[in-house]
Amino acid sequence: MCGIVGYVGEKNATPVLINALKKLEYRGYDSAGIAVLGDEDIIVKKAKGAIKYLVEKITGEIVKDSKNLSKEETEKAEAEYAAQIERTENFVKGNIGIGHTRWATHGEPSDLNAHPHTNVSGTIAVVHNGIIENYAKIKSWLQSQGVVFRSQTDTEVVAHLINYYYEQKKDIFFAVQQALKKLEGSYALGVLCRDFPDRIVAARKDCPLIVGVGKGENFIASDVPAILEYTREVHYLEQKEIAVLYADHVDLYNDEGERIIREPSHVDWDLSAAKKDGYAHFMLKEIHEQPKALTDTLRPRLVFEENRPSDIRFEEFDFDESWKNAGRIVITACGTASYAGMVARYAFEKFARIPVVVDAASEFRYRNPILKQDDIFIVISQSGETADTLEALRIAKRCGAKVIAITNTVGSSVSREADKVIYTWAGPEIAVASTKAYTTQLMCLYLLAIKMGEVRGTIEKQEYLTLLQQLEEIPQKAEKIIQELPVVQKFASEQFNKEKIFYIGRLFDSASSMECALKLKEVSYMHSEAFSAGELKHGPIALVDKNTLVVALATEPALYEKIASNILEVKARGASTMVITQDGKGAFKNCADTIIQIPECGGDLESIVSVIPAQLFAYYCAVQKGLNPDMPRNLAKSVTVE
Ligand code: F6R
Repeated sequence: MCGIVGYVGEKNATPVLINALKKLEYRGYDSAGIAVLGDEDIIVKKAKGAIKYLVEKITGEIVKDSKNLSKEETEKAEAEYAAQIERTENFVKGNIGIGHTRWATHGEPSDLNAHPHTNVSGTIAVVHNGIIENYAKIKSWLQSQGVVFRSQTDTEVVAHLINYYYEQKKDIFFAVQQALKKLEGSYALGVLCRDFPDRIVAARKDCPLIVGVGKGENFIASDVPAILEYTREVHYLEQKEIAVLYADHVDLYNDEGERIIREPSHVDWDLSAAKKDGYAHFMLKEIHEQPKALTDTLRPRLVFEENRPSDIRFEEFDFDESWKNAGRIVITACGTASYAGMVARYAFEKFARIPVVVDAASEFRYRNPILKQDDIFIVISQSGETADTLEALRIAKRCGAKVIAITNTVGSSVSREADKVIYTWAGPEIAVASTKAYTTQLMCLYLLAIKMGEVRGTIEKQEYLTLLQQLEEIPQKAEKIIQELPVVQKFASEQFNKEKIFYIGRLFDSASSMECALKLKEVSYMHSEAFSAGELKHGPIALVDKNTLVVALATEPALYEKIASNILEVKARGASTMVITQDGKGAFKNCADTIIQIPECGGDLESIVSVIPAQLFAYYCAVQKGLNPDMPRNLAKSVTVE
């Protein structure tokens, strides 16, 4: 949902800003821009489309397309692109600047609507992530004062409003502070002012913003990967805080203008996590990272005795009486994270015998939710910044619920506002389509469900120990599934032109099907839907014809025969079929066109990893269609607006 960056220091700001923006491109890529303060004036460059078009605009050189190139050619093209980015410093010079990569909300993607936006005289430049909800009112008031607007964005009002207050005192901090008081909605802002060439003013409310603290240089960014190359010391700005960045120090203030003294936090993410490391795309890299991510998420929570797992322990909290006596689990999340919740519903019901409600956060927040004293409320969010999820969390807290958050992002809003946090240790997820975050979310949820079963006495001791053993083997099972890649790749090359793709399954598999279908939609734009297999004949089967591919998830041996019948039914109507199952030879031998065999995991744990073939299928369909799976159209990774 838009990425913003800023730099002040000794270096030429332009390549620093562009490199940082490249790391945030997952947040939006329909236009990009920078504003750099040169010797006298602010120079603004912006371009519609991905960041490479901005580089082309600045340097006048075409950036080579790295699509359909061999590995060596891709590496060469990437090196050339990196050199082109470095050369931008010859065209736009200055040691302080701000930048933006956009996911359009107000106003179509265009050069004009791209950020930064400036005041009329071009002496104040602003980049913004979020939505100014009362922009129309402010705009008409500013127009009545004679301000002429150039773009259709909500952000432009911020530049003019700051200018309005700047004219009163010629003090940029005062001007930003006053303007913020008038803004309704959400923002992370970076502000540059020609008359204050030594500083950037930044502020946030309901959108993430970090300040990177370097040596003789400081940064702002929407997310940590943007600045990892330069520093690992960061301030996570709190709600309504304002930061003023100089080359040699950073001042933090609350919204009343009072100084805040706080030490920066240290980030120990591996730098390579923000690079493709020889993979063609982040999505493929992140699919391959799942065995490690699952290990990192699982291991610290297993207690070992004589080299065998004997218990589950979360450092973050104790499984106290509230777990034993809980009446319901309520799970709220968006998109992929909510589908992890759907699968977890079956896990909690199976292991802990407790009713579970799963709700899309965007629905939950607009209802008058019924929460009870003995509910356990769980929010799931990779980014920890999804606006709807965050609001659902706040509502739950206002209703008196204790909120447990499962998130991948240390320091995120969700992690700071929840009562207890369980981290998925998946490392940064850069590709827009979530892969390793989903499977690690499931790992956390299964751990909770199994431990809860033990605490409530709904799982026998021996079964508990067996489940722990089986959980420990999940990362290597994930590895085995990834080895099926050539079969999936070939199948994708045969099927990527299909008009309709239906994922079907029963119980756990019916929930997993939703995530499988979403992955395919997102990256390949193929029309895919998920149906519980038993429901097919109640309507959806009318859609099936020879242009249909039906993918069945079949990880429940007791239901193999039922699924096989469903496959025969769609096959009789001309559909192609693929089955993802542990049973490579038996039930599906005569009905499926292709079988992807996944290893037995035991205890219904297959659902943690059964999505992996579907992730690979989505990835390869996108590649076959010449699409960039890392940057699907119309999407952005972190949805920080409603
Ligand atoms: C799909 C995807 C989205 C996110 C959703 C919630 O691949 O990534 O559906 O899952 O926007 O995001 P988080 O988990 O960051 O709250």
